[in-house]
Amino acid sequence: MIVAIDGPAGAGKSTVAKSLASALGLHFLDTGAMYRAVTLEVLRRGLDPANGRDCAKVASEIELDFDAQGKVLIAGEPGEPHIRSHEVTSHVSAVSAHGEVRDPIVALQRSLAERWGGLVAEGRDMTTVVFPRAEHRFFLNASSSERARRRALELGTPSDVERIRVDIERRDRLDSTRAVAPLSRGEGVTLIETDGKDANDVLDTLLRTIRGSSK
Ligand code: DC
Repeated sequence: MIVAIDGPAGAGKSTVAKSLASALGLHFLDTGAMYRAVTLEVLRRGLDPANGRDCAKVASEIELDFDAQGKVLIAGEPGEPHIRSHEVTSHVSAVSAHGEVRDPIVALQRSLAERWGGLVAEGRDMTTVVFPRAEHRFFLNASSSERARRRALELGTPSDVERIRVDIERRDRLDSTRAVAPLSRGEGVTLIETDGKDANDVLDTLLRTIRGSSK
């Protein structure tokens, strides 16, 4: 079974997708981590995130895999915590906007789904581009202030909430207006608004939808 989940930064996709995968006995795929890993490698090599050809070379050469907890490995080495740095976060939208970067990453995502015999995948284009025929497709949303509040708590820096909100809105804009695979809710994708709901409420809603559907 493939469950595809999209939504903007900080909508709670990762937490929910991870618990959903374990409830369903499926692998979890964090596709944002893959674009973050490519971005980290672009920066490590001193390349320009705006240069599509250079970024594409990195995306096609990088050796990505996942450990048993679903954490990304770069040439066998943990990508965490480096892929979550402020520097990577501020350049990842530019790197992931290049179509030639996305092609090899999308191919890898599809081959992992085959290798694992199904998965719960979360990102920006899971429901629209990568797995449009997934058995279950969801779009998780929340207001930017709620998303910033959650991110700040997660990072343990509640006083940074305003800076985080501005950054989240900037990334939303870039991710949803880019030419290739923009963030959008496709037809037939179930919308879940997560403002005021905790991860358990959202997980319950997803499980009920999946178990209640005839597919
Ligand atoms: O989910 P995240 O914040 O870790 O994602 C990091 C960035 O990667 C995000 O700004 C957009 C990009 N991304 C993407 O373009 N396509 C995906 N499927 C997942 C993430």
